[in-house]
Amino acid sequence: MNVDVVLGLQWGDEGKGKIVDYLASQYPVIARFQGGPNAGHSLHFDKSAYILHSVPSGIFRENTQNLVGNGMVIDPIIFEKECRALENVGIPVKDRLMISKRAHLILPTHRIIDAASEHAKGASKIGSTLKGIGPTYMDKTGRNGLRAGDILAPDFTDRFHALKSKHLVFLKQFDYPFCAEEEEEAWFKAIDYMRGFQLIQAEYYINDCLSQGKRVLAEGAQGALLDIDFGTYPFVTSSSTTCAGACAGLGFPPSKIDRVYGIFKAYCTRVGSGPFPTELFDKDGEALRDQGKEFGSTTGRARRTGWLDIVALKYAITLNGVTDLIMMKSDVLDGFDTVKAAVSYDINGRDTQCFPYDAHVPVTPIYKEFKGWDKDLSVIRKEEELPAEFLTFVRFIEESVGLPIKILSVGPDREQTLVREIFNYGQSY
Ligand code: GDP
Ligand code: IMO
Ligand code: MG
Repeated sequence: MNVDVVLGLQWGDEGKGKIVDYLASQYPVIARFQGGPNAGHSLHFDKSAYILHSVPSGIFRENTQNLVGNGMVIDPIIFEKECRALENVGIPVKDRLMISKRAHLILPTHRIIDAASEHAKGASKIGSTLKGIGPTYMDKTGRNGLRAGDILAPDFTDRFHALKSKHLVFLKQFDYPFCAEEEEEAWFKAIDYMRGFQLIQAEYYINDCLSQGKRVLAEGAQGALLDIDFGTYPFVTSSSTTCAGACAGLGFPPSKIDRVYGIFKAYCTRVGSGPFPTELFDKDGEALRDQGKEFGSTTGRARRTGWLDIVALKYAITLNGVTDLIMMKSDVLDGFDTVKAAVSYDINGRDTQCFPYDAHVPVTPIYKEFKGWDKDLSVIRKEEELPAEFLTFVRFIEESVGLPIKILSVGPDREQTLVREIFNYGQSY
């Protein structure tokens, strides 16, 4: 059996959590492959709302095994808090969740380094979530990190202090006040809590599942435009958010990938600093933020908003080998007189479809305009009832990127999801 992958195609917060939860009943195994508590994946069902940071979005489904993959970084304190909250609502987290021994641990001093280095960057800061993500991946690639499996070693505390000492030396370069011990007790208590989970060599587990005919759904965090290699560097996260990251972050071969679900919003958002070609600073931008409730699930920060960017979308589709598109938050565009999508960029007077390498190059998007619709999409459950103007917009996107949009999301709830059966490509626009 194969692995299907769910990934974000923009700058994160596309609605990956909702879709993984929606699809989860079809998969016995759901595995997160990168990122850490910088992610915030929101799920709405049965009149309840949940936000997951480190726990995969299959956790609410019975008979589903969830996995924290080796590509992830775990903050034990945040992990414990999240799991205890789930236990409090009756989810048997310890039965449904396993942790790869190879996942890396975020130490309290990683978070301090994140804050100190952002502070030192001043106006050119990344806008990090300050969860210690970058410094933890730096220690991973620098071959200094502590891994989840290490918590079982008798000299774990010594290893912790050895790494902490390195951090204290590193921190001397910054003029930044901190108390390294403030969270240490809570951190070690959380490590005790983590010892109650199954810590496994997940690369064997995943491949065994596949040979037994079990389907695996790999859940990405962040989005293609935040990828460490292909995103708007340096305004990116520190992991591989693209499809290749799923193989590296879980330990299965690329030949096992079947469907690649690319998730995008009907417009764009970004939280934190960095280029955003279609960003709006006018009342349309405010309307997108208000109607889309665009405030970060992890930090509460207001998200920057703008029109859909087809140049960036095509770039993300190519990088990931997307097979199926899923468009989220269609309902947020309800009531706009005109809806726009960028179809190319003007860069220094040249019209291009190339997503630029340089984060600082000035980009002027060239837009195509669409007539808006005045129907409430959030109550629609059948494709036939969708307004013609909205379908024109959908078909234009499909034609532009050469892929079908298989699912249209029209609200945050599980129920507000339209799986499309009709694909009509014969039309001109
Ligand atoms: P993720 O990080 O990709 O999982 O996305 P987030 O959960 O951070 O952000 C997506 C937000 O949009 C959440 O608040 C979701 O509840 C909400 N959401 C998801 N799909 C839809 C939709 O189709 N319409 C609306 N209005 N909200 C949605
Ligand atoms: P989900 O999985 C949106 C952004 C931060 C910052 C940059 C680097 O919910 O889509 P980091 O803390 O990783 O060093 O921050 O990346 N960022 C996200 N933006 N959604 C996310 O995750 C994000 N995770 C990180 O705002 O600009
Ligand atoms: Mg999010």
